[in-house]
Amino acid sequence: MGSKRVFPDSFSLAGKVALVTGSGRGIGAAISVGLAEAGADLVLVSRTGRELEHIQQEIEALGQRALPVTADITREDDVINLFELVKREYKQLDILVNNAGTSTQAKAEEMDLKEWDQIIELNNRALFHVTQLAGRIMIAQQSGKIINMASHLGVVGLPRRTAYCMSKAAVIHYTRTLAAEWAGYGINVNCIAPGYTMTKLARQVLDNQGFRAEVLSKIPLGFIASPEDQVGAVIFLAAEASRYMTGQTLVIDGGWSCL
Ligand SMILES: NC(=O)c1ccc[n+]([C@@H]2O[C@H](COP(=O)([O-])OP(=O)(O)OC[C@H]3O[C@@H](n4cnc5c(N)ncnc54)[C@H](OP(=O)(O)O)[C@@H]3O)[C@@H](O)[C@H]2O)c1
Repeated sequence: MGSKRVFPDSFSLAGKVALVTGSGRGIGAAISVGLAEAGADLVLVSRTGRELEHIQQEIEALGQRALPVTADITREDDVINLFELVKREYKQLDILVNNAGTSTQAKAEEMDLKEWDQIIELNNRALFHVTQLAGRIMIAQQSGKIINMASHLGVVGLPRRTAYCMSKAAVIHYTRTLAAEWAGYGINVNCIAPGYTMTKLARQVLDNQGFRAEVLSKIPLGFIASPEDQVGAVIFLAAEASRYMTGQTLVIDGGWSCL
C-alpha cells in the first residue's frame, strides 16, 4: 500500500468516485487504498471513525480525496444519511464495493437463530439496501460498477459455517440476478470470492494453529492471502477493462475451490 502506480488507461479510475463499505481495516481498507492508487476518490464507511481516519490519511497522501462516514449499514437511517452525504459531497457515484461482512461458526444443530439473523442482516440485507440506494444514483447516471464481496465459502462448503456459506452463496446469485436486471442501465455487477485472508475477522480462527494447518493443507498455492492479494481483481472489475463482464465471480482462494 501507499505509493501511486501508473495504470494503463483501461485500468485507470481517474475522475471516478468509489464507495467501499467496511473500509476501516482488513480487505476493505486495502481495496480503498488500491482504488485511490488507481485514481479514484473515496467514500469510506464503517462503524469505527478512528480506523477510517487512518485510511483517509493514507488516501490523501496519494493525492486523492477521501470522505469518511461513520455508519452502521444494518441501520436503515444510517444508510439513507450516507447516500444523502454522497450526493451532496460528490454528486456522482461510479463504483460501489459491498465489502462489509461478518462470520461466525456453530454447529447447525446448535446455532442460535439470533446469531443467524446477524449474519444474514449484514451479509445480505444491508448489502441489498446499500446497493439499492447506490443503484438509484447509478441508474440516473446510466453507468456504474458494483463489486460484491462473497467468499470461496459461497462456492464450496465448510462444516460449522452454514449461515456464512448460505449468505455468501446468496451474494453470488444476487450478483447474477442484479447483473441481468441492471445491464440495460450501463451498470456492471460482479463479485469476488476471496479465500482465507489475514484480517482481524480471519485471525479469530487462524490463530488456532490446528485450524491454520488444516486451512493451509487445502490451499494448493501453499499460503494464506494478505488483504492486498484481493485488490487487483477489484481494480479490474471497477475499470473500463472489464466493461464486457457482468454477473461473474472471480474466486481468489489460492486454488482451494479447485480440489
Ligand atoms: N478475511 C477472510 O478470510 C475473508 C475471506 C472471504 C471473504 N471475506 C469477506 O471479506 C469482507 C471483509 O472481511 P475482513 O476479513 O476484511 O473483515 P474485518 O477485518 O472484520 O473488517 C470488516 C470491516 O467491515 C466493517 N463493518 C462490520 N460491520 C459493519 C456494519 N454493520 N456497518 C458498517 N461497517 C461494518 C468493519 O468496521 P467496524 O467493525 O468498525 O464497523 C471493518 O471495517 C467480508 O465480507 C468477509 O466476509 C473475508
